Amino acid sequence: MVIAVDGPAASGKGTIARALARHFGLPHMDTGMLYRAVALSMFRFGGDPGSEFEAVRACDGVAQIDPTDEELRSEVVSSIASRISAYPGVRAALLERQRSFAAGADGAVLDGRDIGTVIAPHATAKLFVTASPEVRARRRVAELLARGMPSHYEDVLIDIRARDERDSGREAAPLAKAEDAELLDTSEMSIEEAIAAAIGLVEARV
Ligand code: C5P
Repeated sequence: MVIAVDGPAASGKGTIARALARHFGLPHMDTGMLYRAVALSMFRFGGDPGSEFEAVRACDGVAQIDPTDEELRSEVVSSIASRISAYPGVRAALLERQRSFAAGADGAVLDGRDIGTVIAPHATAKLFVTASPEVRARRRVAELLARGMPSHYEDVLIDIRARDERDSGREAAPLAKAEDAELLDTSEMSIEEAIAAAIGLVEARV
């Protein structure tokens, strides 16, 4: 069983994907972390995010990044990740890692932007998780505060809108709902409600 969970920043897709993995006993990959690891590697070692060549080269550094590094979640790294993920060369360099994870014998849950459209087009179940930009900005502010990184709602909202535009507007694997994906709008839901709804949608597919 392969479950594809796509959606914009701070939609709740990561939390939902982890809960689905636990519920169905499947391994989980947060594919945004791959792009974030490339971004952090560039940030640390001084690569130019404006250069596709340097971004592709930074893909080799992904394995050296500690996945628990708090800096992976910082706004500066988020912003670089969103820029470098538009490069076809970067997407190609990270493709095989994601495809082979999805092809694992035990099945898998992957979350990102192009799982249902590019990485696992034949997934058993596909969810497109979304919420209004205002709700997502409020959630991100709360999440950052919980991590000891206070931020301003207005700034976060501007950043979320900019990332939405970049992720949806790019030519290479833009953020888009796969035709056969179930739409899950979590704007009016608590996280528990969203998880229950997601489990229900997946169960209806298996
Ligand atoms: O999901 P997350 O916000 O951690 O992703 C960070 C950035 O990586 C996103 O802004 C997006 O541009 C990019 N990304 C992507 N394709 C994926 C996952 C993430 O382009 N499958």
